[in-house]
Formats: sequence, structure tokens, C-alpha cells
Amino acid sequence: MTGGAGSGGRAPSRSETLYERARRYLPGGVSRNTVLRSPHPLYAAYGQGARVTDIEGVTRIDFANNMASLIHGHANPAVVAAVTEQLRKGTAFTLATEVEVRYAEHLCGRNAGFEKVRFVNSGTEAVMSCLKAARAFTGRARIAKVEGAYHGLYDYAEVSQTAGPANWGDPDRPLSVPVADGTPAGALEDVVVIPFNDPETALAILDRHRDDLACVLVDPLPHRVGLMPATAEFVGALRDWTRRHDTLLVFDEVITFRSEFGGAQQWYDVQPDLTAMGKIIGGGFPVGALAGRREVMDVMDPLVSHVRFPLSGTFSANPITMTAGLVTMELFDRLAVARVNRLAERARAGIDEAIRETGVGACVTGGGSMFRVHLKPRPPRNYREAFVGPDESRLLRGLIDHLLEDGFIMINTGTAAVSTAMGNDEIDGLVEAVRRWFERSRAELP
Ligand SMILES: Cc1ncc(COP(=O)(O)O)c(C=O)c1O
Repeated sequence: MTGGAGSGGRAPSRSETLYERARRYLPGGVSRNTVLRSPHPLYAAYGQGARVTDIEGVTRIDFANNMASLIHGHANPAVVAAVTEQLRKGTAFTLATEVEVRYAEHLCGRNAGFEKVRFVNSGTEAVMSCLKAARAFTGRARIAKVEGAYHGLYDYAEVSQTAGPANWGDPDRPLSVPVADGTPAGALEDVVVIPFNDPETALAILDRHRDDLACVLVDPLPHRVGLMPATAEFVGALRDWTRRHDTLLVFDEVITFRSEFGGAQQWYDVQPDLTAMGKIIGGGFPVGALAGRREVMDVMDPLVSHVRFPLSGTFSANPITMTAGLVTMELFDRLAVARVNRLAERARAGIDEAIRETGVGACVTGGGSMFRVHLKPRPPRNYREAFVGPDESRLLRGLIDHLLEDGFIMINTGTAAVSTAMGNDEIDGLVEAVRRWFERSRAELP
């Protein structure tokens, strides 16, 4: 990545100049790696509904929706009005607020398994709190997770997330691979890695740790594992196994809560003990939450003489996030859920057709209101098959750049998250832009 300011003898653009300044004070010039692109990030000026305008004045249709966290697109009028009113009254207090209670009632009303809920500030914190609650409940330290799955930044939750062919080990015994340098060896030892959608291998691995697992953590539609839904067989096997061994089943629905009225878990005939949420439930503001069985959630109950898992946060359940979240989720009713899911299905079908008609070696996966384009001929079944090597990575950058040129923003893995601000026109526009790139790049694609 280069700064590029003033390259080619022309005056630098506003974005080039800004990025030069950013690099002086922000490592890499950014606060989160997702916005990086060569030669500089795009800088947002404003967003409205399905569209974002950057500081160069270019408007694009936004299929990234802040990493799938905006279910109604940008600046939804009802959310803006409610938050504006709350802003005038104050943003955070060392007092509880009524809206936090109303929002807890709302979220618990969406899923019969949500007997109690706790609000935190990010998906990372929600997953971390689920793992710590599971440990406090079971008195065990170890956790199991799916190879390659992204669950945020907690040392334990991030194990194996970036594993690659050089260090991931035998498929029947995936290794615990650290993400950050200096990860404590104890964190690696306390994480058991299982393959996705392979119940037989997963249970054989879990059996070796049957007496010391606090929980099995699973995302029903893991983005980094290929955005393929977990099979009912896999989820059912994990539910049976965890029940037999007094281990908790934890769902990470930080992304997938957008998939159904009560989360993607409603695709299955199972109920996890705990669910981590985040993203859309903040209505555009930082958020996380965990919900689940009363007796498990009560490890956080501070009204007893020994609190098994004390959990606090300065900005947890702040009234801005609670207000935005409540209004957002009230608007995301069953009809709205069904509508965004239909739009995503239309996109998946359209891209599939474009793949067939252009004959390129690509495929599309997804579920609910999301989809992911892979530049490989067959849908990946697990992280190892979904792994993006250097050639595919280069091609994918070409697709993302082409889409930006054509007026569409997608997550840089080739993933899209539909919002209620979209309609058939936005979907069909994206499908046609993808088709144009397939036609243009046919010779290079597998
Ligand atoms: C499945 C999943 N879990 C957890 C997280 C972490 O959430 P946050 O970025 O809010 O910490 C993410 C973020 O992308 C996620 O996709």
C-alpha cells in the first residue's frame, strides 16, 4: 500500500491528502483494517438509505453496511429522530435507564430461549462474556471453536482464525494457531479446534476433551469459513454432545441475528444455552449483548453474596445505543426480515445465473440476508476449502475494485449484507455489475 499523494504530477485528491495525514498518527493510517484499500481508504462524507457518498463526491450503493451491522442502511429517519431526542437528554449516566429495560423486553420477546439478556459494547465483548459465563457456570476453562471462524479479538475466541496451510495441521486434529504474536501458550492450550460441518470428526475431537470443556462456540453462518450455513446434522450433533457432557452450547449470532426474527438459530430445531449478539442490534452504534437460559445468565447476577462472573462496562446499555437499537429492531419485524432475505435470495440466484451463463469458475454462498462470492468453482465446505490463496486474493481485489468503479461497495472478502433500504433495483444493479466483471475477467478466472 502506498500513500500515492500527488502521484503522476497531478494535485492530490482530498482522500490522498487525508490518508497522508492519517498515516502520521494512526498505525497504517487506519483504526480498523477493514477500511484499508490501495492506494488509500475511501473516506465517507455521508450516507442515506442504501447509498454512501465519499468525500470526493462519489455515491455508491452500500452492500457492506458497516460490516453487516446496518440493517436499515444509513441515517434511517426513525432512528435519527429517536437518537436526536435522546442526545438532548444526555448520552450516558451512572444511573440505569428505562430504555434499557424496554429493549431487554423486546429482545427477549424475539426468541423463547432468551430468558435474560446483558448488554455490552461490541461483538468481541459479547463473545468473551459468553465464554466467561460458560466457564463460571461449568467451573471448566477450555472452550471449543470451529477452525477459521471469526469471533472477535478475545485471545481464546480468535485462536485458529487466521490458520493457513503452513500451520493448520492435520484435518482430523486441527492445531490451535495464534493470531497475534505473544498470545499466551495457555490460551492456545485451552482452545480445542474442530472442523466445520463435519460432525464425525468434530465429535471425535470433542470426546478427547469431554471432561474439561466449558462450551462449544459456533456461528451458524460463519463468514470467514465460507458463509455456508451450518448443517442441521452438525448443529444437532453439537447440541446432543454438549448436553451429554454438561458443556454449554454457545451461538455467535453477532452477524447472523439479522437472518431470522430471533436469529439464525431458528433455522434449527435446537436452542443454544447462550447467544452472543452485536452489529444490527445497536442500530448503528457500538453494541454487544448476550442472552440465554436464566440459570446460566444468573452467573452475572450481582445480587448474591458470591458473584460468579462480575460483568460491567462504562458504556454498557448507554441510552443512545439502547434507543437506536430498540427503534431499529422494532422496525425489523417479521415482514422486514422476510423481505431482506428475499432480496438476498434474488441476488444469490442472479449471480448464480451469471456464473452459469459466463462459464466462469466462481460460486456464491450465503443465507438469510447475506451472500459471498467465491472465485472457486465449487462452494467451500469448511475453512480449508474456503481459504483464499494469493491468486484468488488478487482476483478478488479486482472484483472489489471493479464494483467500486461501477458504484457498489462490498466487504473485501466478496461478501454482501442486504439492508431494508434496498429494493430489486439495487440487487439487480449489483448482479449486472458482477456479471460484467465475470465477462471481462473470464480469461483470468479458474
Ligand atoms: C461472527 C462475529 N463475531 C464477533 C465479531 C466481533 O464483533 P465486534 O467487531 O463488534 O467486536 C464479529 C465482527 O465482525 C463477527 O463477525
